Amino acid sequence: MAVIPKIIKTCEKFNMEIKDAILLLHPILAVIVVFPLIGIIVNRAFLVRQRRLETVGTGKSKVPPVVGKEHVQIGRWLTNSVVGIVLIAFGNVIFSNIIDKQVWSKSPFQVIFIGILFVATITSLYLLYQAKSPTWRGIFATLSGIGLVVLGCQDGVFRQTDKWYISHYYYGELSTLIMIFSVAILPDIYKDKTNRWRRVHIILNCLALLLFIGQGITGSQALLEISLAWQKPYIKMLYKQKCRTQICTVQAPSLSPLPKLE
Ligand code: HEM
Ligand code: HEM
Repeated sequence: MAVIPKIIKTCEKFNMEIKDAILLLHPILAVIVVFPLIGIIVNRAFLVRQRRLETVGTGKSKVPPVVGKEHVQIGRWLTNSVVGIVLIAFGNVIFSNIIDKQVWSKSPFQVIFIGILFVATITSLYLLYQAKSPTWRGIFATLSGIGLVVLGCQDGVFRQTDKWYISHYYYGELSTLIMIFSVAILPDIYKDKTNRWRRVHIILNCLALLLFIGQGITGSQALLEISLAWQKPYIKMLYKQKCRTQICTVQAPSLSPLPKLE
């Protein structure tokens, strides 16, 4: 528990509140963990493909066989970390909404259900790694996917359905589902002599790569739009008074007490 005063001190040092620090956890992990893993996995993907095509064509390749193993190992890490950062983002927005709107006192079962969903999603992903038969892999992949989709439907998640084609949420959900699917079909890629699953994997993961690039862009934009906790009442005033299209005055709290905005 001695860690909490330390976190508070660090927040004070960077002039921000705990809320801001929690919000930053998701982008920090995306930048430090997820994107470097994407870099490594793409490099290994090219090598795996080069090795396979050279071996088929000439019977030998200078690329060492270990690249396949490395691609799969990093693939598992990537899947775990992408699911992890998505759950962190969902946790932040959903539980902030629960606290702000006092959902616990109005419908405690909804809060318990959300808590169970988080646990069930993580457990299903864990069981997906343990499952050997295609049926169980299919079941646990579907369950963890359903968990993520149902969590994404909860209040507080900023979905931007009207602008789904540039939505950080939709890109994030789809790319995460593709990662889970890649883990589910992993043994089939090796078993299938016709390379059908391999082709499915390549097409889906090239799409996932584009979505990840989109996540870098839309995520940075989201950070720009989400203000620091102390700035939020002012930003709300800017929108309320339509300051983008007309002249307006937003007063500092030292000059006038902050209006209580819903
Ligand atoms: C952005 C993510 C990913 C991209 C762009 C990607 C792309 C590729 C490509 C291009 C290949 C080579 C196919 C060929 O032989 O022609 C490959 C192979 C493979 N990938 Fe991925 N992949 C990604 C993520 C994953 C994940 C998450 C997993 C599962 C954990 C995975 C599992 C595999 C397996 C098992 C192979 C076959 C390896 C071998 O032949 O030794 N990939 N991938
Ligand atoms: C693999 C990459 C990423 C995935 C899969 C991902 C996924 C998600 C998802 C599903 C959400 C919840 C939807 C919402 O409430 O908006 C979210 C929220 C968010 N993401 Fe990302 N994201 C990724 C990378 C990034 C990056 C690189 C940044 C910034 C540099 C970023 C910044 C944000 C912000 C600011 C939010 C707002 C939600 C909050 O309050 O925590 N994301 N992300």
